[in-house]
Amino acid sequence: MNILIGVSGGIAAYKIADLVRMFVKDGHEVKTILTENAKYFITPTTLETLSKNKCYTELFSSTRDVEHVELGKWADVMIVAPATANIIGKLSSGICDDLLSTVMLALDKPCYIFPSMNTNMLTHPAVQENISKLRDWGYLVYDPAEGELACGDIGKGKLPDVELIYQIVISENERAITDSSLANKTVLITAGSTRAYIDPVRYIENGSSGLMGVELVRNAWLRGAKVTLVCNKEVVERFPWVKYYSEMIMLVETTEDVYKAVSGVFDGTDIYISAGALCDFSNQPLKEKIKKDGKNTVLNMKPSVDVFSELSKQKKHQLMVGFALETNDIERNAKDKLVSKGMDVVVANSVDAIDSKTSNAIIIDKKGIRKYIKESEKRVMAEEILREIEKILFESVTPVEKTNQEAH
Ligand SMILES: Cc1cc2nc3c(=O)[nH]c(=O)nc-3n(C[C@H](O)[C@H](O)[C@H](O)COP(=O)(O)O)c2cc1C
Repeated sequence: MNILIGVSGGIAAYKIADLVRMFVKDGHEVKTILTENAKYFITPTTLETLSKNKCYTELFSSTRDVEHVELGKWADVMIVAPATANIIGKLSSGICDDLLSTVMLALDKPCYIFPSMNTNMLTHPAVQENISKLRDWGYLVYDPAEGELACGDIGKGKLPDVELIYQIVISENERAITDSSLANKTVLITAGSTRAYIDPVRYIENGSSGLMGVELVRNAWLRGAKVTLVCNKEVVERFPWVKYYSEMIMLVETTEDVYKAVSGVFDGTDIYISAGALCDFSNQPLKEKIKKDGKNTVLNMKPSVDVFSELSKQKKHQLMVGFALETNDIERNAKDKLVSKGMDVVVANSVDAIDSKTSNAIIIDKKGIRKYIKESEKRVMAEEILREIEKILFESVTPVEKTNQEAH
């Protein structure tokens, strides 16, 4: 994409250096515009070095190009971050007294605006009215984050993490060109590990980061689905942007928590994807911390509730997808799991997938192997998995149902 980033004079302007780096690293072309006041917070040289492109600051430059129009034509999308109360006010009133405000008014491409300011400024009726005016006009104005502000106050007004801005822009753009094939579908996804507590402070857990589940959430969202995510709080802390793609997030700790959470919403689910690496065994946790005296060193682990098998018993129309993480005989063990647990699809992978950015996998359905996925990023894997799920979903509907779905 050609990404045009407008930076106005807010304290968070320095963070835009990282945003530029992320886009450039990802192969996007970036050009930047600074307001006069933004130059107090970040220099054109920094942005030019990172973007490998000119940083534009003047409305009346020495060249004969009509830059305020040319830049808008060049861009596929524009981001304004941080957006000051001032630039928001100017845009909502049609004032064009510098390059950034003029480019924004001349632009006919998607424009992502990230307001960032002191809480009192943000909640001022003038700013609120300006923001809602811009939203009504089709600008994508995002709520600032909460936290400690540069002025020392605590409240709403922080620029969201640049990683989140990056994810929003990339994903919204991808969503705009993706078929909303899962619109009207609700998808329930589990991600990450669970804990089996031994005593109040100790627990057994595996190293699953939750990335596979998070990428599945994102991909289902790209296809227009409403996604409920069930995971531990560390998954959300690790991948905070997952909140953006999830209709609802249910936080859990133990396998029993997962069972309670998923069984409560399973009825209203169309597709269930169990990507969570749940503890298969649990212990009746001791009420007191185990002492070092060596008297209480034997664990009495019992099988935890088998969440997938229990949900299979409640299955009506749901398409149910499980994961099989195996150390040996991956394909055969996965096929056995598919049958014994009542899965429609199983995604088989090896233990190398745990806490890794990449993985390989075999997608198997009741008829046999559907696809081998070679070592790839989990984002790519999620795309492949959802594509297969979607095919199965539409293969299994009757022609009448298909016509009804298409009519939606
Ligand atoms: C240290 C400092 C920090 C500022 N931070 C912000 C801010 O975060 N958000 C904001 O809306 N204005 C902030 N301002 C005020 C703007 O810089 C001021 O409104 C200016 O006119 C904005 O100009 P521009 O929108 O053309 O860049 C800050 C001012 C100073 C001196």
